[in-house]
Amino acid sequence: MKILVCGHNGQVAQALQGALAGLGEVCLVGRDQFDMARPEQLREPLRRQTPDLIINAAAHTAVDQAENEPELAFAINAEAPGIVAEEAARLGVPLIHYSTDYVFDGSKATPYDEDDAPNPLGIYGRSKLAGEQAIRAAGSEHLILRTSWVYSLHGRNFLLTMQRLLQERAQLKVVDDQIGAPTWAATIAASTRALIERWQSGQAGAWGTYHLTAQGETSWFGFAQAIGEQLKIRGLPCAELLPIPSSEYPTPAKRPLNSRLDCSRLAREWQVSQPHWHDALIDCLK
Ligand SMILES: NC(=O)c1ccc[n+]([C@@H]2O[C@H](COP(=O)([O-])OP(=O)(O)OC[C@H]3O[C@@H](n4cnc5c(N)ncnc54)[C@H](OP(=O)(O)O)[C@@H]3O)[C@@H](O)[C@H]2O)c1
Repeated sequence: MKILVCGHNGQVAQALQGALAGLGEVCLVGRDQFDMARPEQLREPLRRQTPDLIINAAAHTAVDQAENEPELAFAINAEAPGIVAEEAARLGVPLIHYSTDYVFDGSKATPYDEDDAPNPLGIYGRSKLAGEQAIRAAGSEHLILRTSWVYSLHGRNFLLTMQRLLQERAQLKVVDDQIGAPTWAATIAASTRALIERWQSGQAGAWGTYHLTAQGETSWFGFAQAIGEQLKIRGLPCAELLPIPSSEYPTPAKRPLNSRLDCSRLAREWQVSQPHWHDALIDCLK
C-alpha cells in the first residue's frame, strides 16, 4: 500500500512518518512538490503518485496571520483539500483529512459532537470549515478528523513556547477561560494508524466526520501549569503562573471559549480512542 502524506514538516505529518511505518510505502510530500497554495496544480502530481490512500496534514495553521491573508488561508485550507478529495474520488482511494475545534464558536456549555452546527469565529476556522464542505462535496471516501490544541516536540506550539517562557521569565500570565484538550501529534498519528489498520482488515466504521482529541479537559493555564510541573520535576526554573481571562490577552483572531470535542463517536464506530491529555503530555516529555 502506498500512503501519500501532504504536509512534510508539520507536527502531525512528522508524527505520521514514524507511526505509519510498516503499513506500506509512506510518501511525505512538502510544498516543493505539492504547493497547497496553488490548488489546481495539485491534480497532475497527485495522479502521477497513484497512492492507495491520501492523508492531508498540510494546512495554513497560523490562526492570527490568517486574518490578514484570507485568500491564502482559503486556498490552502479549503480549495486545496477539495481538489485533493476530487482526485481521491477519481483514483478511487480514501482521503484522511484533519480539521479543527475552531469550526465552532465555543458558546455551547458541553463538549461539541459531530452533529453540532459549526459557526467559526475567524478566517482560519471559516477556511477549515470550507475545506470540510469541499471534501464532502467531492464524493471520495473520507475521514475528516477534527482535533484541537496540537503540540509536539517539533515545530511551533504551546508546549515549546511555554517551556521556553517559563524558564526565561519570573512571572507569566496565561488565559484561563478557554477550555479544551491539548492533543499530542503522536496521539493523532497513532489513532490515524489504528483507523487505517481497521480499514485494511475490513473492520472499518462509517466514513465521515469525527472528533479526535485527547481525553479530559483543561484551560491553557492548566496546560501551562502541567508543563511547569514537569520543568520543576527536572530541577529547571519555572515562572510563577497567573490566570487571566481572554479579554486581557487580545489576539487578531477570536478563539472559542469552549473547544471541547466529544470523541465518543470515533470510539463507537471505529473502536479507536485516545489517552488522557495529561498522560500523553508525560509520555511526550519522556
Ligand atoms: N496546530 C493545532 O493546534 C491544530 C489544532 C486543531 C487542528 N489542527 C489541524 O491539524 C492538522 C495538522 O496541523 P499541524 O499542527 O501539524 O500543523 P503545522 O505543524 O502548522 O503543519 C502544517 C503543515 O502544512 C504545510 N503547509 C503550509 N502551507 C503549505 C503550502 N502552501 N503547501 C504545502 N504545504 C503547506 C506546512 O509546511 P511548511 O513546514 O513547509 O511550512 C506544514 O508542514 C491541520 O489540518 C490543522 O488545521 C491543528
